[in-house]
Order: sequence, then structure tokens, then C-alpha cells
Amino acid sequence: MLLMLLAEFFGANYGQWSAGILATDISDRALSIARAGVYAEERIADVPEALRKKYFRRLPDGNWGVIDRLKNEATFRRFNLMNVQFPFKKPFHIIFCRNVMIYFDQPTREALVGKFHQFTEPGGYLCIGHSETIGRSQSLYNYLMPATYQKEAGR
Ligand SMILES: C[S@@+](CC[C@H](N)C(=O)[O-])C[C@H]1O[C@@H](n2cnc3c(N)ncnc32)[C@H](O)[C@@H]1O
Repeated sequence: MLLMLLAEFFGANYGQWSAGILATDISDRALSIARAGVYAEERIADVPEALRKKYFRRLPDGNWGVIDRLKNEATFRRFNLMNVQFPFKKPFHIIFCRNVMIYFDQPTREALVGKFHQFTEPGGYLCIGHSETIGRSQSLYNYLMPATYQKEAGR
């Protein structure tokens, strides 16, 4: 969905932007499911018809596969969010970390949000799950709306 939004937003100018996605998970199984990009009909029921036609193809078994052109804009990597060091070379414009921090205790969450902050571009965003909070680390980001925080432009 995120790649579709980026492709729709940038349109013909997409190639002029470094607009791809780095998708990480600790689980090889989760990564291989994500890499395959195959969805059952009911999983994409909310995707508007126009986007479905543009970015999916119907597979012989009735499922829907994300087209390669879109899938190739995502890089999939195994990564443990509990790693002390983040190996990323550049900060991110938006970090989505949804429904993962629920597994971590409070100190681990706070350390993680601190690292996210370090790797968010000034003015960039952190998006978390609707049932999650960033607790005391909230002071690092400005709260924008439920589940969405912004790093100050000058920090
Ligand atoms: C409930 S799923 C959420 C998936 C997705 N973010 C979403 O909102 O649909 C939690 C995911 O967190 C991953 N996970 C759990 N511990 C992790 C860790 N230490 N580092 C990275 N990913 C982790 C699991 O493998 C699983 O895929």
C-alpha cells in the first residue's frame, strides 16, 4: 500500500526521487511472505479498483500478485530492532513501526524510539500502531495525530 501511495503521489516524476522503501523484520518467514507480495482477494478488498488494476495482477490460483515494477521499489532485509547499533547509512523520511513495540518492555521501547529519532530526518515522521504509545520518548517528537509523530525540522 505504501509503495502504491508513493507511486501515485510522485507519478511520472517518481524516478527523480529516492522514494523506495526498506522493509525489515526479524522473521525470515515474514520477509518471504512480504517479498512474494501475494494477497488473497479478501485481503485487498479495500484497495480501490483503479489501483488494483494498475499495481496487481490476477494469478492463476485466484490470488493477486503485486507487479514487479512496484515490488522492486522495496528492499527487504532481516533486522532485529533490538540491535544496539542501527546499521543504516542515512536517516529516513518516515519510519513505520506498527504493532511491534507491543512485544518489548518499556526500557526497550524507549531505547528503540531514541534510535528511531536518531534515524529520522529533521521534519520526518514516526508512525506507530493505533494501540501503541511511545511513552516518555514522546518528548523527542511532536505529536501530530493518533499514532503519528513528527521530528522537529531543526533537530
Ligand atoms: C504483529 S506483527 C506486525 C506486522 C506489521 N508491522 C503490521 O502492522 O501488520 C509483528 C512483527 O514484528 C516482528 N518482530 C518481532 N520482534 C522483532 C524484533 N526484535 N525485530 C524486528 N521485528 C520483530 C515479527 O516477526 C512480526 O512480523
